Amino acid sequence: MAQDQSQLPIGVFDSGLGGLTVLRHLRERFPHEDFVYLGDTARIPYGSKSPRTIQKYLAQNLAFLNRLPVKAVVVACNSGSTQAHTVKSDVPLYDVIGPGALCASLTTKSKRIGVVATRATVLSECYPNEIHKLKPEIQVFQQACPLLVPLVEEGWDDDPITNLVVYRYLSPLLASNIDTLILGCTHYPILKKAFNKALGGRVQTVDSAEAIGDQIERDFQLHKLPAKHDGRTGTFKLYTTDVSDTFEALARRILAPLPCASIELAEV
Ligand code: DGL
Repeated sequence: MAQDQSQLPIGVFDSGLGGLTVLRHLRERFPHEDFVYLGDTARIPYGSKSPRTIQKYLAQNLAFLNRLPVKAVVVACNSGSTQAHTVKSDVPLYDVIGPGALCASLTTKSKRIGVVATRATVLSECYPNEIHKLKPEIQVFQQACPLLVPLVEEGWDDDPITNLVVYRYLSPLLASNIDTLILGCTHYPILKKAFNKALGGRVQTVDSAEAIGDQIERDFQLHKLPAKHDGRTGTFKLYTTDVSDTFEALARRILAPLPCASIELAEV
């Protein structure tokens, strides 16, 4: 008998554990769905890698999720999302760039949007390209912030040094009079407090987790993605390509208040 697709989990992929911010949001928003998370902790960071390498890693990780199997894959990783168009997928593949660009273009009034992201994401020009497809008149100002991922992983999300680094990265964007800022990296929502301090209430932030949640909700409503309908509370399972106590502690911190299940090793 053919497998009922609606009962399969949704796969969420990230280069590491930052994508758990997306998993946490999707879990809260779709409590009846099952989720499987894969973090490529053995090969993080993607943000400093070339498109060719990111494409290779992405294809291997998606093949792993498809083998489980899953009914859809969310590429929570922004650096990974820049190469999502290069991989083949048998199931719907969601990347975070399109939804983030859409949300920002609907939010801005001044038509000046800032993007903070890894170097790979900034160099790909994916956010400006997507925004210009929607509204060519919008001006986009990008800033690569390579120091922010290590600060989050170190647990320094509420720290004067992090506030200073965030302020330094945001200064040129603020000088460009942006009114909307895309947090174009899985780790940045964890730094929302530092961002808000530096932005001083003048700029709206767009978080990819919320933007991708809106798109999945639309697809459930349009029956483009079959929703689970047994009324049972959903589960989630975590896989990473490398396992350590440090990863488990970080996962627990990001997922809170959700309890962190044990992490299984994935051979991709
Ligand atoms: N997950 C990556 C992103 O959203 C950040 C970490 C990395 O560089 O791999 O771009």
